[in-house]
Amino acid sequence: MARILCIGIATLDIVNEVTCYPDEDDEIRILSQEKRRGGNATNTSVVLSQLGHQCTWAGTLVKEDSDTQIILADLEYHQINYKHCHFLNQGKIPTSYITISRQTGSRTISHYRDLSEYSFQNFKKINLHAFDWFHFEGRNIRQVQKMMQWCKQQCPETPISLEIEKPRDLITNLFQDASVLLFSKPYALSQGYESTKSFCWESGSKYPDKTIICAWGSSGAGAIHKKQYHWQNALNIAAVDTLAAGDVFNAGIIDQQIRQHSLKKCLKFANKLAGKKCEIKGISSISIK
Ligand code: FRU
Repeated sequence: MARILCIGIATLDIVNEVTCYPDEDDEIRILSQEKRRGGNATNTSVVLSQLGHQCTWAGTLVKEDSDTQIILADLEYHQINYKHCHFLNQGKIPTSYITISRQTGSRTISHYRDLSEYSFQNFKKINLHAFDWFHFEGRNIRQVQKMMQWCKQQCPETPISLEIEKPRDLITNLFQDASVLLFSKPYALSQGYESTKSFCWESGSKYPDKTIICAWGSSGAGAIHKKQYHWQNALNIAAVDTLAAGDVFNAGIIDQQIRQHSLKKCLKFANKLAGKKCEIKGISSISIK
């Protein structure tokens, strides 16, 4: 068991399941609707907690907002500590309107946000020595860069993982302070790479001291460390809900890195966990066996 601090966002996900994804200007019936807590960092925390770790999540929430209550109830259910969260008087809980296709399990996300992000000023109040691992979402770049630098300064031995899901201005400034870089397929594609292998080799030569992971959707995932490249095929499954599969995969990698397993084992486990997730709705009860 490790004590893990995750920094990023919490959202309200309004999940509509439909027979198949509609065309523009269509009118369709929704088969089922569910409200869930979402957001990459909280999703990853919830899975890490199921894997036996003690998780703390810090981010922003809105005071006296019923959506905040939905998020807090879920965090409490999963025993995630949120005492370092910042409650704001202004703004709205970030909300994602998600369409899941029953035909393919694909998820299409329309995201609305109008809330300030977590600040370095708040982060600085956290006692970092109480943690064995730090995980950051690659967003809110200027503030997160200060947070990561502060972690390095205060706890130079504590590993830091960074999720890089989307290309954002100055995001590469965050890479130097992380020990594990968790890249997504959309990010690699946005940089002009067409395979995880070419992306990993190139990134591995730029950042030779880091562990570089790149998930490649339903095909699998690749990783490189010290010039050793590994690839792992994804499970062959019938997906019913792929929402948050990437966040689950990242939790699998962090868990295995903490347990000091080989990179090959890390990939195998994370792929399996993400595959299992896609076979069920939500992420509250992922079977690990
Ligand atoms: C899934 C997710 C959703 C959330 C959206 C935010 O990875 O975290 O739960 O609504 O992405 O970008």
